[in-house]
Amino acid sequence: MSISRDIVGVLKLRFCLSYLYRVRLPLRISCYIASLCYASMLSITPLSLSVFIAYVGYITIYRIFFHPLRSVPGPFLARFSKLWLVWHVRKGKSHIQFPELHAQFGPIVRIAPNQVLVCEEDAVKTVYGAGTSFTKGDWYQMCAAPDKNWKPVDEVLDLLTETNMEKYRRQRRAIGPAYSITGLEKHEELLDAYIDKFVAKLEDLRGKEVGLANWGHIFALDSMSQFTLGKSPGYTDKGSDDGNEDASHALWQCFTVIGLFPGFVKLMHSIPKVGMLLVLPMSLLLGIRIPKIWPVFNFCSPSIMQRLKTLESMKDVELPASRPGFPQEYGKDVGVPEERGDSIEETDMLATLMRLHNDREARFPPSWVLSIALTNFGAGHDTLMFTLSSAIYHTYTSPSILARLRKDMESQGVTRKSRYSEIVARVPLLLAVLRESMRLWPTIGWYLPRLVPATGVTLCDTYLPHGTTVGTSLWTSHFGSEVFAEPHKFDPDRWLPDGTEERRRKIGRMDSVWMGFGGGSRSCPGQHLARFFVIKALARLVMSCDVEVNGEPEIGGWFQCTLTGVGISVKERKMK
Ligand code: HEM
Repeated sequence: MSISRDIVGVLKLRFCLSYLYRVRLPLRISCYIASLCYASMLSITPLSLSVFIAYVGYITIYRIFFHPLRSVPGPFLARFSKLWLVWHVRKGKSHIQFPELHAQFGPIVRIAPNQVLVCEEDAVKTVYGAGTSFTKGDWYQMCAAPDKNWKPVDEVLDLLTETNMEKYRRQRRAIGPAYSITGLEKHEELLDAYIDKFVAKLEDLRGKEVGLANWGHIFALDSMSQFTLGKSPGYTDKGSDDGNEDASHALWQCFTVIGLFPGFVKLMHSIPKVGMLLVLPMSLLLGIRIPKIWPVFNFCSPSIMQRLKTLESMKDVELPASRPGFPQEYGKDVGVPEERGDSIEETDMLATLMRLHNDREARFPPSWVLSIALTNFGAGHDTLMFTLSSAIYHTYTSPSILARLRKDMESQGVTRKSRYSEIVARVPLLLAVLRESMRLWPTIGWYLPRLVPATGVTLCDTYLPHGTTVGTSLWTSHFGSEVFAEPHKFDPDRWLPDGTEERRRKIGRMDSVWMGFGGGSRSCPGQHLARFFVIKALARLVMSCDVEVNGEPEIGGWFQCTLTGVGISVKERKMK
């Protein structure tokens, strides 16, 4: 072995380790020891072996006796290496395992050397509440557009991973009108027409059993396309989602696990165009599924590009490079832009977004229109599937709630033609059903990692230093018996005011830990849209259809939950 190779190797390793360990003094020392160890490993001698053993011993002793999180209880192996967490996350059972860990160790649990779960009410409010200074954990970078760092900062709209809060707020304000109830109601007829079609198709099946999640996906994709683009890929007619559901399962397995290696993610994103291909060997190494392209993007990307390029001010917009599945030629065949911005008619949501761009051109660049339109599909697809599935599952397995919903809708004169805002004002039980379904089946099956700010923080009587990753599993916090009476019971009434001060306070308390749409300033920007779609679909099914639900739900506890195992048989409703 040449000395120069050793030195280069040592330097590289030291650089990586100091990056990973965020330059704490004892950890810096460990980096030096590791470097020496690496150098000596290159020629395996008894000396190098002893140095290596000494290094492992040092890390072990440090993490047991000196690490700032040493007093946080948790599984024994989790304190040494995050490989314990990786091993368990791979199984897709975090939504079951995290609550079990809390039951065993208490309200604060160490799940990796530098990662901690909390579930206590006050801790949840501190981490996610309004005005929090906790920022998004490193894990989220796995979901970032790979070429994000190569573009001018102001062109990038990537809300899930954005860390610059000033820019984030600006972008939320800019898209706000399109995602407000008033904005959404502009296109309500598109959704109504699609729901008519969806329900007719289910009734045509005349009681034949189909997969709940599968039809949830079909609904999510076709309704979102119809609403955003005024046309759909036709999954409802086909009775198949063309493999989008499976692609989504593979993606979330892969992202949830690989995101635990932020250094690796950074490396992938630092290699232009082909960096993301490193996911393939990593997936093989970790024994997880290799992600696929969601077929829906082959439909929506060209459609969006074609539309954007008809506007002079948008003719140069490009799909994100280096994202597999986004061929750059989309939209290239559009001739000279024909439309002028002020001639845009708001016929669908994309038109509304284009209009917003046109009205404040400089502050709402074309790349934002493209990104947020794609986000409707990326972020709205499996979340909608899971939430609608939960609402259908819980409503139709609770005959008394179903009967009340029908009675309330009939007595309040709700019809197929009723507007969303009328429906929710007249039948508050519908929103309560949705909240309760999302409490029992929150869409996030993993946890929502956040970084402790520079001041450090004390949570659950334990001091957590700056840089610790801390977060909550909604599958634990949504079931705290001190906040939710009989937490495992589907009880939408808990969300309905009864005019008393006591109930009002109880609802406020539940509200502060309910995070079906995330928390505080980082809550879901698509939440009105999500409620709009789910409530309208549920109301219509309840009015028109009898649904028999069969099978046991099997939920995959990835960052985004997956669902299998439940079948539904739908028939036209027999009116009494
Ligand atoms: C029923 C459907 C939906 C559910 C249950 C849902 C749920 C959530 C949750 C729990 C979060 C917080 C995630 C976190 O903190 O890590 C979130 C964030 C987000 N959602 Fe949704 N969502 C839904 C639909 C949508 C739609 C239709 C869009 C389209 C715009 C969307 C866009 C986003 C974005 C961009 C974020 C990141 C916000 C941030 O990081 O500040 N979601 N959503």
